[in-house]
Amino acid sequence: MSLKIGVFGIGAIGNAIAYELQKNALNELYYFNRSSRTAIKLITEEDKIEIPISIHTIEDQVPILDWLIICIKEHQFEEASDTLSTLITSKTKVVVIRNGLNLKEPLLPFTDESKIVECSIDCPTQPVQNGFYQQLKKPVLTLQQSGIANEFESLFDKENIKINQEKDFKTESWKKLCESASLGAILCLSGETCWVFEDKKIKELYINLMKESLAVARADGAKIETDFIAQMITKLSTYPETKGSSMLTDRLNGNSIEIGAKNGIISRLGAMYNIATPLNDLVTVILSKTNNKKK
Ligand SMILES: NC(=O)c1ccc[n+]([C@@H]2O[C@H](COP(=O)([O-])OP(=O)(O)OC[C@H]3O[C@@H](n4cnc5c(N)ncnc54)[C@H](OP(=O)(O)O)[C@@H]3O)[C@@H](O)[C@H]2O)c1
Repeated sequence: MSLKIGVFGIGAIGNAIAYELQKNALNELYYFNRSSRTAIKLITEEDKIEIPISIHTIEDQVPILDWLIICIKEHQFEEASDTLSTLITSKTKVVVIRNGLNLKEPLLPFTDESKIVECSIDCPTQPVQNGFYQQLKKPVLTLQQSGIANEFESLFDKENIKINQEKDFKTESWKKLCESASLGAILCLSGETCWVFEDKKIKELYINLMKESLAVARADGAKIETDFIAQMITKLSTYPETKGSSMLTDRLNGNSIEIGAKNGIISRLGAMYNIATPLNDLVTVILSKTNNKKK
């Protein structure tokens, strides 16, 4: 039996996910995006793909969706909330694919918590020319082990996509966040790539950001091993000098930085658990300002 699946946000990740979903003939896809899109346009390691699509709006009498896969950034949820509330019915299972923590939160006004799946993705993908997105690696999705995650997994022909179901998604998400928020903050504020970690003081700053973040993570229930920082320092030494981060890329391209999903949530939860986070607070205040520049 075919399933009606909405993909909401046809940007970098939306293109990568839509491409994988359209391989399964049982999936009937509906596409939603703020600006116009005429095709899935993806350059993978093997192929240049262009598949015509049309964008639906809520005025189009979209049928009841079995699934809605949301691929927008954290700061885009507020503007999207009216459309999301219309598309999400009591029959719709919702998957949120994005960076950060507590991914269900903005959707709880529209549906039951049990119908929402949080999903992180490792799939570096960037806009290139003529509306194409270049996918540098095959997608790897990570979700909390569950029955609904099994159902989501069954939507894909799994040849080209890897799906990990974790027993403790919260801990995995926190580890990813502590690393990406600490590394991203330093690269984004310095405007430089990983070569800056040659400087001992920068490495110290990385460790201190990480310590602060880990204290909040543990207070929030993440079970992170005691040698995590040592592991991250070893990992740092394997990065090429030219490695950047999504926060740095967004800043250099003049795009909004997903600060609320990174250092912002660490500060917010730190305040909730009464843990001082001065470094993350500073990063959040400064980078929020670059998102709201005077024109
Ligand atoms: N790209 C990566 O390499 C990567 C890797 C790992 C994780 N992620 C995470 O994945 C999430 C999605 O990122 P992304 O890179 O795919 O972002 P993106 O390329 O900016 O795509 C977001 C898409 O959502 C659309 N959108 C925004 N607001 C909307 C609204 N109100 N209604 C309908 N559509 C709306 C945008 O449309 P417009 O064209 O109109 O702006 C855009 O096409 C983020 O949390 C990101 O951090 C990304």
